[in-house]
Amino acid sequence: MIRVLFVCLGNICRSPMAEAVFARLVDEAGLAGEIDADSAGTANWHAGKPADSRTLTVLRQHGIPYTGRSRQIQQQDLKHVDYVVAMDSENLTDLLFLDRDRSLNGKLHRLMDFAPAGYPKDVPDPYYNGQFDLVYELVDAGGRGLLEHIRKENGIEAND
Ligand code: 4NP
Repeated sequence: MIRVLFVCLGNICRSPMAEAVFARLVDEAGLAGEIDADSAGTANWHAGKPADSRTLTVLRQHGIPYTGRSRQIQQQDLKHVDYVVAMDSENLTDLLFLDRDRSLNGKLHRLMDFAPAGYPKDVPDPYYNGQFDLVYELVDAGGRGLLEHIRKENGIEAND
């Protein structure tokens, strides 16, 4: 199983959206048994809580279910995961700080680096500005590129 962990700050807005959208893409590609998606936050403020209702609303509009709960990333996660995918540059910096024993070597990525040219490089925090539709659009574009990258890197044929 290839493990992908999406990381944002609170794990209630962006990374749950990325996890759910990516899981849908993986499922549509017939790869649900090969690629696992999870998410976590660098902060523990919302640990144990469901995703933000605005994230859940946008996901529901796209017919995507999500039942995950917020959790803070642990150093242990960095060892057990194959791809750690940050939503923005601040998350990247925080993850590098957390990675004291250098488990992240080569595993750390920023989601929007996998999106086509022209997209922004960060998925902006929607908690205060309410731009959850934009988050959906960005994680969908980044997620498609990420899946393509994982397929190529692991020699997984398209079977859709
Ligand atoms: P997320 O958004 O990192 O995409 O889950 C946020 C959620 C909560 C807060 C900030 C960002 N907060 O300040 O509580």
